[in-house]
Amino acid sequence: MEKLYEGKSKIVYSGEDPDTCIIRYKDTATAGNGAKKEDLPGKGKLNAEISNIIFEYLMQNGVKTHLLKIIDDTTVLVRRAEIVMVEVIVRNIAAGSFSKKYGVPEGTALKNTVVEFSYKSDELGDPMINDCQITAIGLATQKELDELRDSALRINELLVKLFAEAGIRLVDFKLEFGRSKGELLLCDEISPDSCRLWDMETNEKMDKDRFRRDLGNVLDGYRKVLSRIKV
Ligand code: TMP
Repeated sequence: MEKLYEGKSKIVYSGEDPDTCIIRYKDTATAGNGAKKEDLPGKGKLNAEISNIIFEYLMQNGVKTHLLKIIDDTTVLVRRAEIVMVEVIVRNIAAGSFSKKYGVPEGTALKNTVVEFSYKSDELGDPMINDCQITAIGLATQKELDELRDSALRINELLVKLFAEAGIRLVDFKLEFGRSKGELLLCDEISPDSCRLWDMETNEKMDKDRFRRDLGNVLDGYRKVLSRIKV
């Protein structure tokens, strides 16, 4: 298999069919744009399983995604897509960079759902970017941005419901999309690496903030998420 790209938490290979790619989840955990890095044995498998459950649920509810087939515990076959270099962040509750930037205490319920865009660039540290700036530098068209926003809000509705049924509050999350044959597809992963997930009763963090903030028992949180959403 030809390696196309190795990221912080995944490796992408070309598939046998040129319209496909094979993605392998790694055990590496990083934070602060790679400043903090550690191997967490088993993380790749947990994230793959969690993300696959979520993608299958979203697809059953009409969301178009890149997922074609689960190959093994850490590997999936996906449709090859040209990644939109804009990350879409959705927030239901203030936390993380939003709390810091706007001085809103973590845990504050937001009066409306917030959708933010950031420029997917490790070199620049993924800076926040608005529609006007995105279209000005050609990262996406306004039509694509409108679709990304609508899709992110629809995905949020579905995920809030899925996690609420598992006793988990979906605080915020990050999505990535790709272009394939004229369509925008949900790509990448949805896992405790890319979401903030708090226990509904205790507010215990069950996501990568355990790693970012040195709270310990990182994968215990991930395991709890998996066991609660697994049917
Ligand atoms: P933030 O509060 O640090 O901006 O993060 C918001 C959400 O997006 C949080 O669930 C973590 C996720 N996220 C990623 O998955 N990757 C990233 O590079 C960033 C900045 C955030």
